[in-house]
Amino acid sequence: MAIEQTLSIIKPDATRRNLTGAINERFESRGLKIVAQKRIHLTLSQAQKFYDVHKERAFYDDLCKYMTSGPVVVQVLQGEQAVTANRSIMGATNPANADDGTIRKDFGESVEANSVHGSDSTENAKLEINFFFADIDIVT
Ligand code: CMP
Repeated sequence: MAIEQTLSIIKPDATRRNLTGAINERFESRGLKIVAQKRIHLTLSQAQKFYDVHKERAFYDDLCKYMTSGPVVVQVLQGEQAVTANRSIMGATNPANADDGTIRKDFGESVEANSVHGSDSTENAKLEINFFFADIDIVT
């Protein structure tokens, strides 16, 4: 077991419905600590760069546009196996397939407006955290 950090994004559908606190409660009650957090409005070029790995996918343009449609909350979560733990708390990408009690099942509206993003590996977590935060922003 290892203490890890992972990047989380609370997406525009969730900030629009004022769900930041409700979602943060899911992380904290499951033992993840929010060690950095900021509310920002992504530019289109920032969203395109962040989701560059998906640029060949049919949903890429809509996804980038959607992620700029309102504020997001970007955050660093820290805890035991934080990458896997967060993915379990979030649930499946498509809310229709997500398990009961997960964030996406309880709050997600669609596969695009699925309330949260979380890093899918420790390697990507490091890259994604560095995309939004400097070391000085992360207080453990
Ligand atoms: P996220 O974890 O932010 O990573 C990429 C996002 O693309 C994903 O969550 C979904 O919200 C979004 N997306 C939109 N359409 C699809 C799709 N058909 N398949 C997978 N992801 C999709």
